Amino acid sequence: MARILVTYDMFREGFKELEDKYEVTFPTGRDFTYEEVYEMLPEYDVLCSMFDFPVNRELIDHAPNLRLVSNYAVGYNNIDVAYCLEKGITVTNTPGPVTAPTANIALGLLLDTARRITECDRKLRNQTIRVGVLENLGAPVTGQTLGIIGMGRIGKALAKRAVACGMEVIYYKRHPLYIDEETKLNVTYASKEELLKQSDFVSINAPYTPETHHLIGEAELQMMKSSAILINTARGPLVDEHALVKALKEGTIRGAGLDVFEFGDYPLPELLELDNVVLTPHIGTQTYETRVEMAQTVCNNVIGFLEGDRPITRVLRP
Ligand code: GLV
Repeated sequence: MARILVTYDMFREGFKELEDKYEVTFPTGRDFTYEEVYEMLPEYDVLCSMFDFPVNRELIDHAPNLRLVSNYAVGYNNIDVAYCLEKGITVTNTPGPVTAPTANIALGLLLDTARRITECDRKLRNQTIRVGVLENLGAPVTGQTLGIIGMGRIGKALAKRAVACGMEVIYYKRHPLYIDEETKLNVTYASKEELLKQSDFVSINAPYTPETHHLIGEAELQMMKSSAILINTARGPLVDEHALVKALKEGTIRGAGLDVFEFGDYPLPELLELDNVVLTPHIGTQTYETRVEMAQTVCNNVIGFLEGDRPITRVLRP
């Protein structure tokens, strides 16, 4: 019988079907460390990894029985997919349950940064706020342009929400959508440069790959309107965080809403000092319901792979 190793601590509700059928090893009260997984993996056929757990060559080379890596995330930049595929190891992800919650957090950060909600809350609490009809002016949102970089599932879900808020939506993607889909979503294609120049808000909803590293750096920030707001709910290193700090301090752009950071779980300390930034610690999918649904998708992928009885969400290329 296939043996399954899960690297992370998780609500077990989502794992019920898998645990009823197979021998599944979980850590308790904390995640397994890389070293622990490295030691255990030779005994396992399936690895269920978290989005921040590195599934690299060293680990794969130490796993002679490994047939499947079932990642808990839509993003899979933590996995050396090319090497897995070369070794005949299948990789799966969890796109379905991630889409709506991530689009919701992107819209939340957009509205919060535009209307200065968290900033006002913070200033009210520490009694540094100036109150008056000419104070704390924000950006209107309605009637403004949102530029979405990366028009996959999450980008499209965000576009629908933005259109409902009365925004114009333009997007950039390597391969533009078909016209009928653009019409249905009410979005217009723009080159990356046009998008950066025209948008009042720029939201990054692209995967992180070597090609998209620092997709937004100093040059791109310079192209944006000085009144523009940048939203990143995808992966931290898509944005050059040092360049962003500089742009925010110098007024190159108006503000930023960030759910992910370039150097791990925490932002650069300088970002904490700035009022024109809203920061959340990678909570795009952080609800109990989504956590359980993502776990169920991980399990569906494992069972579907092992038994061939249902579709799985397979990652086809790096
Ligand atoms: C979360 O970051 C995901 O990739 O699903």
